[in-house]
Amino acid sequence: MAKKLIIANWKMNLSPKDSASRIKTFASLLKNLPQKRLRNIAEIVVCPSFSALSCVGSVAVKTGGLIGSFAQDFLWSQEGASTGEESAVYLKELGVKYVIAGHSERRMYMGETDVMVGKKVEAILSNGSMAPVICVGEKKDERVGTIRKRIVRSQIISAISFIRRQRQKRPFVIAYEPVWAIGTGIACTPVDCARMYAFIKKTLSDALGAQYVSKWCRILYGGSVSGMNIKDFVVSGVSDGALVGGASLLPREFFELVRKVVL
Ligand code: PGA
Repeated sequence: MAKKLIIANWKMNLSPKDSASRIKTFASLLKNLPQKRLRNIAEIVVCPSFSALSCVGSVAVKTGGLIGSFAQDFLWSQEGASTGEESAVYLKELGVKYVIAGHSERRMYMGETDVMVGKKVEAILSNGSMAPVICVGEKKDERVGTIRKRIVRSQIISAISFIRRQRQKRPFVIAYEPVWAIGTGIACTPVDCARMYAFIKKTLSDALGAQYVSKWCRILYGGSVSGMNIKDFVVSGVSDGALVGGASLLPREFFELVRKVVL
């Protein structure tokens, strides 16, 4: 059984100092869990802001691989005249293994398009050992009829065009994050999530082959995940893990969430 991937997306919420202190507290709380079981069942990662990546990364390294650090975004080009952007090559140097691509907040506020997300996926997979966490999901007014599936399908197809061409033997992650569920406290129902999981898996399998997808892809759920509902999504097998925003900011709350996955 593949490990459940639990990703903490801290967004632009914690300063480097706060981030370092919270990751330390979280790491010491994890010592209360049976270590072997924890390592067998869960892969836990934290995505801090860029400015906190190295301090969070250095604490994460000390946990011996128990916690990893991911980045929240990057630009597709490796280097050059792109003021304010971050390169996947630089992130790799910091030990980052996965990077989020196409989070709905970037699509909404930074005008990120499906084509741009596709370019990011290509850049990250062309970059040695790194892998993308590709976010897809419909907005509230796109929930009607078949629109939702059409939106999610076209986001996926565009994002995986490089994977389709290259068929690299490399992992990648799809995070289904309905936009209306993010930060609202209203999560997708597990039944609905299971339907979308099946739809995403079929979309990927049609494009890449079922065997390839089973081996290389994990499909997560994100959107108002908390300690109260994590079991509905992760433990029940409705998803391969979760992308957690608000509930990952407080170490104890995030620990409780992880504890429910593990015990
Ligand atoms: P949330 O955020 O858990 O606060 O809804 C999830 C996300 O945006 O990835």
